Amino acid sequence: MVQRVGGSTVVLLCAVSVLTTVCICFSVLLLHSEQIKKLRTDVMALKTKDEKANISGHATCCRGVWGCYTDAKGQSASRSRREVSKQGRQLRQTRRRRTFIHLQALSSHSHDKDDSTVIKWMSAWSQGEGLQVSEENVTVMTEGHYFIYSQVLYNSTIWIMGHVITKSLNGTGTKLMKCVKNMPNDMALNSCYTAGIFFLESGSVLELSVPRKSADLILKPYSTFFGLFSL
Ligand SMILES: *[C@@H]1O[C@H](CO)[C@@H](O)[C@H](O)[C@H]1NC(C)=O
Ligand SMILES: *[C@@H]1O[C@H](CO)[C@@H](O)[C@H](O)[C@H]1NC(C)=O
Ligand SMILES: *[C@@H]1O[C@H](CO)[C@@H](O)[C@H](O)[C@H]1NC(C)=O
Ligand SMILES: *[C@@H]1O[C@H](CO)[C@@H](O)[C@H](O)[C@H]1NC(C)=O
Repeated sequence: MVQRVGGSTVVLLCAVSVLTTVCICFSVLLLHSEQIKKLRTDVMALKTKDEKANISGHATCCRGVWGCYTDAKGQSASRSRREVSKQGRQLRQTRRRRTFIHLQALSSHSHDKDDSTVIKWMSAWSQGEGLQVSEENVTVMTEGHYFIYSQVLYNSTIWIMGHVITKSLNGTGTKLMKCVKNMPNDMALNSCYTAGIFFLESGSVLELSVPRKSADLILKPYSTFFGLFSL
């Protein structure tokens, strides 16, 4: 009986201990699962945060980049637009202000004294009052930098031909440009072109001369011309 009771007690105890163990195990499991759940939540939270951070980071980056891009683009676009319109305005003003003269040859005259030929010019096109043409001379009224160009067509078998652009100021002559051409012995037809930029003081007188008397020149408007414009 006691043994039975003892046996049943043992069984009971056993059962209780098993239950307790199961209980503890279960609790531990529960705890673990709770912890795992919490961990998972934490990880999820972290991940979400990370993703958000990434997205927001990306977004910020994008915003930054796009912002920068758009801003830069926008700014640079508007800046370049501003600059372009400013340049355009300056260009238009310069064009309005720009003084020029393009000359056609009227006739040529030989100066036996100094063994030269000069060309008398007439204005084909001009703008502004800054450049005055008088026979073989062009007088500069407004000082500044000028682009000067000239071409002469030679029909001569004299072995070398060419012309000189001279600036005279206060009685002092300065050679600005010299154009030289070797002429062939037969069918000697050669044009010589020269151009350059020079500072011309007010009162400067420009002259184109061929350092050879009685030079045979072809004075067609498209063959022989002379001109300058302010820069
Ligand atoms: C966050 O971005 C980095 C680098 O762009 C990447 O390596 C990482 O995997 C991203 N994380 C998530 C959670 O998207
Ligand atoms: C042209 O200029 C030269 C040099 O300044 C001068 O000697 C000459 O008299 C001028 N000719 C005319 C027609 O003005
Ligand atoms: C060039 O000069 C020669 C001889 O003076 C003449 O026969 C010829 O017609 C001239 N050429 C031109 C294109 O004027
Ligand atoms: C030319 O002469 C005038 C006076 O005759 C003088 O005022 C001017 O400075 C001179 N110009 C040059 C470039 O020498």
